[in-house]
Amino acid sequence: MDRNIRTVEDVLQLLDGLFTPEADRWTRDAASWWDTFYADRSRPVPFFAAKPDENLASYVDRGLITPGRALDLGCGPGRNALHLDSLGFQVDAVDLSPTAIGWAEERAREAGACIRFHQGNAFTLAGTELGGRYDLIYDSGCFHHLPPHRRISYLSLLDRLLAPGGHFALTCFTDGKAGGSDLPDAAFYRDARLHGGLAYTPQALRRIFSDLTEVELRLMRDEPPESPYFGEPFLWAALFRRDA
Ligand SMILES: C[S@@+](CC[C@H](N)C(=O)[O-])C[C@H]1O[C@@H](n2cnc3c(N)ncnc32)[C@H](O)[C@@H]1O
Repeated sequence: MDRNIRTVEDVLQLLDGLFTPEADRWTRDAASWWDTFYADRSRPVPFFAAKPDENLASYVDRGLITPGRALDLGCGPGRNALHLDSLGFQVDAVDLSPTAIGWAEERAREAGACIRFHQGNAFTLAGTELGGRYDLIYDSGCFHHLPPHRRISYLSLLDRLLAPGGHFALTCFTDGKAGGSDLPDAAFYRDARLHGGLAYTPQALRRIFSDLTEVELRLMRDEPPESPYFGEPFLWAALFRRDA
């Protein structure tokens, strides 16, 4: 018999355990799932190319964000962290996958970039290895791989780590298109899997991040293969600001 639920974190962990280990990208074995995903670098995965998101470049070009402390949340092989470093941000970058972090570190060495990489679960590291406040928290494609209940952990991370006046930017699956699943939240628990990731409507994003002020929420621009930027039109690109 177990009667271990005492805190909100206990409930969140119980809900984590409803997803079968082999089923998807948020499970006990998520780090090794992502390790396998990144093992073959020659696969034609669009975000394997070392190009920054077009929306990130555009925020900087338009002066919507300016250099400061930045956290790349779920950084993968580090393409956006590298771009931020090249623009003069002081960058921390975190990812669950040791293979992704190894690849990102290699890229950083080659580019002469000075990025602090952290391997592990961002929610566990928030407030320990990931300390202080960030002027920018950037997430390209991590949030939509989290199960619904981990939005609570995500909001708590933003609350703890985002500086007053700082910005939070997100790219995530749009509704009604290839990529993310339009199923309701409850279905993911019923099916014990995340169906490749969760689609979001603009209304859902506005509601979830309603403690922040919306600066811009639009579709990502579709970038051709020869572009120096990454862009896919099945992703939302959202920029929010925390009031000072
Ligand atoms: C679709 S990939 C995007 C990678 C990178 N941001 C990019 O766009 O190139 C999502 C990444 O989020 C990471 N991730 C998922 N959940 C995480 C968590 N709780 N803490 C840290 N990283 C996480 C995965 O390991 C994976 O590398």
